Amino acid sequence: MAPQFGCARVFFAMLFLLVSLTRAYNAKIFNVRNYGAVADGRTDNRKAFLKAWNDACNQKGISRVYIPKGVYMLGTVEFSGPCKGPITFLITGDLKAPGGPSLNTEEWIAFRYLNKLIVKGGGTLDGQGASAWPFNDCDKNTNCQSLPISMTFDFVTNSRIKNIRSINSKNAHFSFFACENVNVSKIELSAPAESPNTDGIKIGSSTNIRIASSRISTGDDCIAILPGSTNIDISYVYCGPGHGISVGSLGKSEGEDNVNGLAVRHCTFNGTDNGVRIKTWESPWRSSASNFIFEEIFMHKVRNPIIVDQTYCPHPPCNQQTASHVQIEDVTYRNIWGTSSSQIAVSMQCSKNFPCKNIVMKDIDLAHLGNEGPLKSWCSNVDGRVYGRQNPPPCF
Ligand SMILES: *[C@@H]1O[C@H](CO)[C@@H](O)[C@H](O)[C@H]1NC(C)=O
Ligand SMILES: *[C@@H]1O[C@H](CO)[C@@H](O)[C@H](O)[C@H]1NC(C)=O
Repeated sequence: MAPQFGCARVFFAMLFLLVSLTRAYNAKIFNVRNYGAVADGRTDNRKAFLKAWNDACNQKGISRVYIPKGVYMLGTVEFSGPCKGPITFLITGDLKAPGGPSLNTEEWIAFRYLNKLIVKGGGTLDGQGASAWPFNDCDKNTNCQSLPISMTFDFVTNSRIKNIRSINSKNAHFSFFACENVNVSKIELSAPAESPNTDGIKIGSSTNIRIASSRISTGDDCIAILPGSTNIDISYVYCGPGHGISVGSLGKSEGEDNVNGLAVRHCTFNGTDNGVRIKTWESPWRSSASNFIFEEIFMHKVRNPIIVDQTYCPHPPCNQQTASHVQIEDVTYRNIWGTSSSQIAVSMQCSKNFPCKNIVMKDIDLAHLGNEGPLKSWCSNVDGRVYGRQNPPPCF
């Protein structure tokens, strides 16, 4: 390479660096303290946060809402767009929800109708869940009032969420609805194993969502993939305690969209009820769940490492009208190893009306932690193929 060409490369690299630095530097900062926010852990800072948000949102160019260190009590708020430019919500402090159940509201902190949103900063969302969980009676009451989800993203596109902690959510920690191209990384979610309905992340009606390098310890599903989810990519996620990574439940109501395209890779499940699960109700509502890959997964003391349940009924009796009408197809399980705490490590109960199609299992190597004897697999209505090592022995 000619030396002058090398110099030109260095020059352009520096220029590029300078331009990027200036752009980040040019972000206009909206510090919630300048809008009257008080970090005493008691004053409701809703108004101050909303004022800062509105100014940031109405500013052309890049803006940043800045929450300095300190504990801020914050009532239910909605940060809505569209905004005039990209916006960063920098949480370096800790946000605390009001105590009690906060009934009649679906979420604590909502982000809506936004493009190019970044939420980051290393701060914590404290949902004060312990004061709300006793009000959750959803296991006995089908018309139960739901408690608020800690942070929701609705109609959010081309965005990133990273380096945020959420503890003791009253309901789920995070939810994504009607979102597209959102990357979530380095988040840490935690709630006690016995806390009700504290899903880690719920995703529905969304496309191109990536969740990576995160840690989820909670009382319900670590990640729940709901109807209308397409191209969901989950990697390097640690789950436990919790109910595992679940697709569904599907087929609960009429007109649900399909779930198509899911990869779960390089994940660890520790002490969870399930590892990777697909669950559908017994109902006449037709949809499909297809193109899934689960690979490079380590299971440690997991009750149901691999499970498909097309007779899902969490609180019997359910109104089982007919075998499930959700078609499950093109699902690959590859390189899954570790230990199962129950004897049935692989359970695939597919629908007799819509048997599972093209299920592939390659190199499954699970061992039993318990004294009931060797591990088993148990299937019905499965069409598929197996390759490589199979522990437990295959059932299709
Ligand atoms: C998310 O990550 C993917 C893959 O690394 C990248 O192509 C995409 O541009 C990212 N999206 C955002 C909004 O950062
Ligand atoms: C599993 O969780 C237990 C309890 O938190 C912990 O002590 C152990 O180190 C974890 N094991 C793995 C393999 O992550």
